[in-house]
Amino acid sequence: MRILSGIQPTGRFHWGNYFGAIKQYIELQEQHDGYYFIADLHALTTVRDAAVLRGFVRDAALDVLALGLDPERATLFVQSHVPEVSELCWLLMTGTPLGLLERCHAYKDKKEKGLKADAGLFTYPVLMAADILAYDANWVPVGEDQVQHIEVCRDLARSFNAHYGEVFTQPEARVVQGASKVPGTDGEKMSKSYNNTLGLFEPPNELRKKIMRISTDSRPMEDPKDPETDHLYQLFRLFATAEQTEEMRAMYLKGGFGYGEVKKRLADAADQYLTPARVRREELENHPEKVDAILQAGAAKARDRARSVLQRAHKACGLG
Ligand code: TYM
Repeated sequence: MRILSGIQPTGRFHWGNYFGAIKQYIELQEQHDGYYFIADLHALTTVRDAAVLRGFVRDAALDVLALGLDPERATLFVQSHVPEVSELCWLLMTGTPLGLLERCHAYKDKKEKGLKADAGLFTYPVLMAADILAYDANWVPVGEDQVQHIEVCRDLARSFNAHYGEVFTQPEARVVQGASKVPGTDGEKMSKSYNNTLGLFEPPNELRKKIMRISTDSRPMEDPKDPETDHLYQLFRLFATAEQTEEMRAMYLKGGFGYGEVKKRLADAADQYLTPARVRREELENHPEKVDAILQAGAAKARDRARSVLQRAHKACGLG
């Protein structure tokens, strides 16, 4: 299977990005042909400072490599280093009904909040479709918030193929049960725009402080609690072993514990889990030339593939 996914460099990655998406990239690289990119073109819809964007792109590369993405197995590159994708985006745009984009949550939410929306934000899902179709991807590992965009991609591929013949491969979204919508410190979906994130590479002490401030309900200590509806338990489960999870579950069902104890266990489990990646990241930071070489080689490989898909699309439309 060919796997493809992208992640926006709009700030440091959080637990939701990892458990919803990056962890899947790393697991899937073992047996499949993975293409993963840093979506800098998409980030332009929010980051409009050149130096800041460059820094975020570098951080993104360091983060995913430190977390375990292996450039010997998977292809890692920067979205804008494959200009074929932007051209493919135009071809798709000429057949995209406005109504399809008007229904997309990401755009609708911003508009409803009265935020300024531009054409980039509106056509964001078409660029995503081009990202996916340019590499003949079969599976797209993402969190739940991106599933609607993959549906748009499927629609566009279907209608293009119906009009011009079989040009594009139909992709499928892959979400992980139990991690497709990781909650943030307030229990809502973890998201940079909600200011409720727990960072993957935050200094351990700051992370611990943030964990201790996670909101909880005010039920008495002695009451039994339903673990399935509790965001603290959901976060703990992401880091814990099966045994630790079972133990925690039993503790919830029995009652007689304080949330402070759960938070402490969560902070310990997260620290243990994230420390090896933190160490790897520090090593990589001292070798920027290695990261540059990985991204360059990744872009060259990705471009070859995108070029041949674009040629197919050109031919089908009567271009060139
Ligand atoms: P982005 O950068 O917002 O998020 C990157 C990935 O993290 C997932 N994610 C979550 N998963 C579970 N729980 C959460 N709280 C959570 N928050 C974020 C996202 O679902 C995503 O998988 N548009 C995309 C980037 C993109 C892309 C693509 C993805 C551009 N082109 C082509 C797939 C295919 C985005 O903004 O993701």
